[in-house]
Amino acid sequence: MNLYRKYRPQKFSDIVQQEFAVKTLKNILITRRIAHAYLFNGPRGTGKTSLAKVFAKALNCLDDTSYEPCLKCKNCLDFDEGKFIDYFEIDAASRGKVQEMRDLIDKVKYAPAQGKYKVYVLDESHMLSAGASNAFLKTLEEPPEHVIFILATTDPHKILPTIKSRCQVFDFTRIGVKAIKERLEYVCSVEKIKISDQALDYISYYAEGGLRDALSILDQLWAYSEDEIDESVLAAVFGTTGYEKVYSYIKAVFEKDFKKILEFGNEYYENGVDFKLFTEDILKVLKDIIYLKWSSSHKVVLPFLAGYRDEIQAMDDLMLHSFLERLNNEYYQMRKSEDMKLALELVIYDFIKRPLKKEEKRSSDIELKNTKVVEKEEPENINPFKISKMFKEKIEEKRPNPNISKKTKAKKIKNENKDNYEPTEDELVLINAFDLVLSNLERESLFIGSCLRKSEIRWAEDKKSVVVYFGKGHNFHFERTLSKKEILQDELMQILGKELKLDIILVENKKLENEKQQNKKENNQKIDKTTENKEDVQETLERLSEEDELLRALKKNIKVKKIEIMEDDKNGKKT
Ligand SMILES: Nc1ncnc2c1ncn2[C@@H]1O[C@H](COP(=O)(O)OP(=O)(O)OP(=O)(O)O)[C@@H](O)[C@H]1O
Ligand SMILES: [Mg+2]
Ligand SMILES: [Zn+2]
Repeated sequence: MNLYRKYRPQKFSDIVQQEFAVKTLKNILITRRIAHAYLFNGPRGTGKTSLAKVFAKALNCLDDTSYEPCLKCKNCLDFDEGKFIDYFEIDAASRGKVQEMRDLIDKVKYAPAQGKYKVYVLDESHMLSAGASNAFLKTLEEPPEHVIFILATTDPHKILPTIKSRCQVFDFTRIGVKAIKERLEYVCSVEKIKISDQALDYISYYAEGGLRDALSILDQLWAYSEDEIDESVLAAVFGTTGYEKVYSYIKAVFEKDFKKILEFGNEYYENGVDFKLFTEDILKVLKDIIYLKWSSSHKVVLPFLAGYRDEIQAMDDLMLHSFLERLNNEYYQMRKSEDMKLALELVIYDFIKRPLKKEEKRSSDIELKNTKVVEKEEPENINPFKISKMFKEKIEEKRPNPNISKKTKAKKIKNENKDNYEPTEDELVLINAFDLVLSNLERESLFIGSCLRKSEIRWAEDKKSVVVYFGKGHNFHFERTLSKKEILQDELMQILGKELKLDIILVENKKLENEKQQNKKENNQKIDKTTENKEDVQETLERLSEEDELLRALKKNIKVKKIEIMEDDKNGKKT
């Protein structure tokens, strides 16, 4: 049996993290104030189905001395063997049709045959068709006393608000690196799996908050290894060195020991390390080093780094920042190289020779932009900029406007002396609405949020439609966003309270970037000199974690395929 199935939590105390959901459900059991519909929302493999099962089991456990299921009574035993007949798991993705929903609703009214409650878990409930959702709504409004619905979803935005509002909602969070590591350690000790601390670190971090993924990866490595799961197994299965080696490599960079870098590189090469992944790992470790230096919350950071805290505190901020930024900037270019190892070594060589090159260049960049602002106003024949030009003209007409809000006023005053793009009132409303939608979306998916952050929004001339556009080089973000067009449009309409059309377009033009940079620069001018460096670091971190999401997405395409195959058998059998 797969590890992740074997180690499915049997009771509340087995659930890792998700304290809020666990605590609330326990209280519900204790007080017996049982609601009839719950929505479990959160990333894959974070315990939604597991907790639904524990809750269902506890609701029907014959021993009511504790909120925990006793695991000994007939109902509990039947439940664990998949024989409890009042528990139903329905996959809305494959059975979300209206007719099937009607059949289900028909059966709902019959009393439970074995336990006190019939519990229906609707997995992937965002996949319910509109018809099915509506059919379901009526039942949800007045559910029979003996029925509990638990809707699980990774994408709550696609769930009808009318459904959502009838559910008690629980947000499941990504599981922290440390918590994953502890769970893996536990599983390894029970299964007598020999594994190095490095490998544990690697899996815990790599799983990105999903415990199922972490256990699947452990399974894969275990299947491959003959004895201990160590760095050689990591290299063979993943093409990685493990993070400790990455750290040593980074240290050699900061010691400017190029000879050591080459030696390390050759050694890793012989072990079959994939240098693309290695570069990604360097970026991750660098980012965590900086987090560790700058942030008080170390939950998300690679566990082993804590052991090097003193060493890390002594590292030069500016150098760290510069290296991170440069490697990050070069990364996309490097990936096109036939010889990734060489590409990496070249970047490092360059960094060692001129560690702060970019820093110097950056300040001159800013000057350059300052003097070139005027250029931006030259006529453009590409569509979206016609729009922004139009807005600019409108602003000229409009000023001064007695009705402007405080916020707008502040913005206007700030911009007064600059011949620069400035949003109108309408546009500010739109931008604020967009910001709100964005933060909402971001809460559900960091990834889609980070895609959208690369875009700008404007009213089209008719004011009935809006245009979200992406600048050059953002094809990937653009395409991802396209797939979320409907949600985006819905949310915007809801916030703005009117019908509108939404277009998402890609612009092969640099001006968008200029505009953005300029705005950013203005904001930065406010920043006190002493905090400037910190802001820089923060900014790079933000940018990097956005790109991290991209790396993840790309990486997932390649690597998680394997895991999905292993999961196939799970889908077939419903317990
Ligand atoms: N919070 C958790 N505590 C303990 N084990 C967990 C937790 N989350 C996931 N797991 C492990 O991962 C496996 C799968 O978890 P589960 O099916 O509950 O995830 P899910 O959130 O329902 O994911 P999906 O969205 O893919 O359906 C479990 O069998 C268990 O081994
Ligand atoms: Mg599930
Ligand atoms: Zn029991």
